[in-house]
Amino acid sequence: MTNTKQLFSDTCNRLPVSIEVDQLKKQFGRFVVLDNISLKIEPGEIFVLMGPSGSGKSVFLDLLAGLSKPSSGRLSINQEDLQYVKKTKKYVMGLVFQSGALFNSMTIFDNLALYLREHRLFNEREIRSRVTQMLDMLTLKGVSQIMPSELSGGMRKRVALARGLLMEPDILLFDEPTSELDPITAASIIELIGYVNKQLRITTLIVSHDILLAQTIGHHIALLHNGFIQEIYTPQTLPQSSRSFVRNFLNPTIDLNHPRFLPRRHENKIIG
Ligand SMILES: Nc1ncnc2c1ncn2[C@@H]1O[C@H](COP(=O)(O)OP(=O)(O)OP(=O)(O)O)[C@@H](O)[C@H]1O
Ligand SMILES: [Mg+2]
Repeated sequence: MTNTKQLFSDTCNRLPVSIEVDQLKKQFGRFVVLDNISLKIEPGEIFVLMGPSGSGKSVFLDLLAGLSKPSSGRLSINQEDLQYVKKTKKYVMGLVFQSGALFNSMTIFDNLALYLREHRLFNEREIRSRVTQMLDMLTLKGVSQIMPSELSGGMRKRVALARGLLMEPDILLFDEPTSELDPITAASIIELIGYVNKQLRITTLIVSHDILLAQTIGHHIALLHNGFIQEIYTPQTLPQSSRSFVRNFLNPTIDLNHPRFLPRRHENKIIG
């Protein structure tokens, strides 16, 4: 396997950064998705933001990536305002989207080389060498000349991770890195993210519903519920929480005698 530290000589020389979120609010019209969220992501850690579907995880990620603006509140990197950081390109963010967000008309190689070419970071020979080593490191040898549509879901996630890492980011943001994967492929992605974090100490935010991911590689874990984050947990304290929402999220009850989707009696009456 390629030596990670050799491949990331620049990243290894940089100090990991922190992310500060202060009284963050995001609403669409009158619909408040995120309400007064404050938290700190420590330099070099993996922070996992969990929550049910529709709770606002992707909205939070988009705000942090600078893809949308908060309704109020402040986001900063190393205590510097996110807008300023984006404008000055002071820190690099690697964003790994849920779907992979690869360009379908380009080969995997060209997808991976795109950022390095666009930003003229290296000459073509160096780009070739970096992309090849990255594919090797992520056990993706042999896919460089194929198109994204020919990849399996697990490969697509690894290619998306490769693209994020090739940017030599100060911050890595993941949206559901293990969704739609079988448990074994999901475990290999979890291992990979944990391995990269241990080697490079890139500050990482993962939004996910994956409890296994949170408990195996998360340093801190937060649960979004009704727009709020009530507490920050560690993998040890999360299962001990007495909050009913947390307990139910970790161990949802399935009651076959009372399926939630059946029409209620009064609804029947209206229809009848
Ligand atoms: N641009 C938008 N305009 C209006 N509402 C939006 C917009 N983006 C997201 N929302 C709403 O915000 C809420 C949170 O959406 P979000 O995509 O963040 O959920 P999520 O927690 O990522 O869910 P999932 O786990 O299913 O990916 C949803 O009710 C969604 O409809
Ligand atoms: Mg989402």
